[in-house]
Formats: sequence, structure tokens, C-alpha cells
Amino acid sequence: MDNILDKYKTVAASDVTVWFEAAKASDFPKNGGACIKYKDKQIAVFNFAREGKWYACQNLCPHKMEMVLSRGMIGDDKGIPKVACPLHKKTFSLENGTNLNGDMEAIATYPVKIENDTVYVGFAE
Ligand code: FES
Repeated sequence: MDNILDKYKTVAASDVTVWFEAAKASDFPKNGGACIKYKDKQIAVFNFAREGKWYACQNLCPHKMEMVLSRGMIGDDKGIPKVACPLHKKTFSLENGTNLNGDMEAIATYPVKIENDTVYVGFAE
């Protein structure tokens, strides 16, 4: 059951080899998230409009292995942008995936860039 987690590995901006065109920026809710699919991965993309930033992470919450993080509330924990899982409120840093309110393994995060109102998510392969 843990194997599905193996699909998701954090990608550093310097390691990106593929910028996947996800959608128009205007397709994402302000201060909220949406799920995109890249190959066999579900990726949660967040439009952190109040900070003028974008983030991406695995959509899979590692707590109960549910594909739900894109529906989580985003916010900030002492200056760290975070997402709270909508099911049991485990929270994860959107900067490095760390579980901020527990000791779960970090989730995978991915670089995001916006060009010409289009959202790209970076992958390394
Ligand atoms: S499934 Fe996400 S916190 Fe439980």
C-alpha cells in the first residue's frame, strides 16, 4: 500500500527537466487549489494569491492515502505557507512538504512557474 507514495518525489527547481503545461492561471481558484494530472501522478496546485505565490505538491495525503490535498485549506504557520488536509487536518509545508503538526514523512513538492497566464509544473525524469 505504501508503493503509491514512491511515485512522488520532491523536485528541486534546479533539477527540472520537463515543465508540464498544467492549465491557465485563471482556471485555479484564488487562495485555493486544484488537482492536475501528469502521467500517473495527481498533483495539487495552489494559487496562494494573497502572497502572490504558487505551489505544487502531491495530491495524496499520506495519512490515510487519500487523494485530497488539492481540496485542503491553505494558510500560514509562522510564516510557512501550508496546506491542511480536508479530512483530518494534518498540515504540510508547501515549501518543503514537512508535516507541520506531526511526525509524518514529508510530502513531495514541485516547482511552479507562470508564463503568459499559463501554469507550468516542473518534473525531473
Ligand atoms: S487523510 Fe489527510 S489527514 Fe487524514
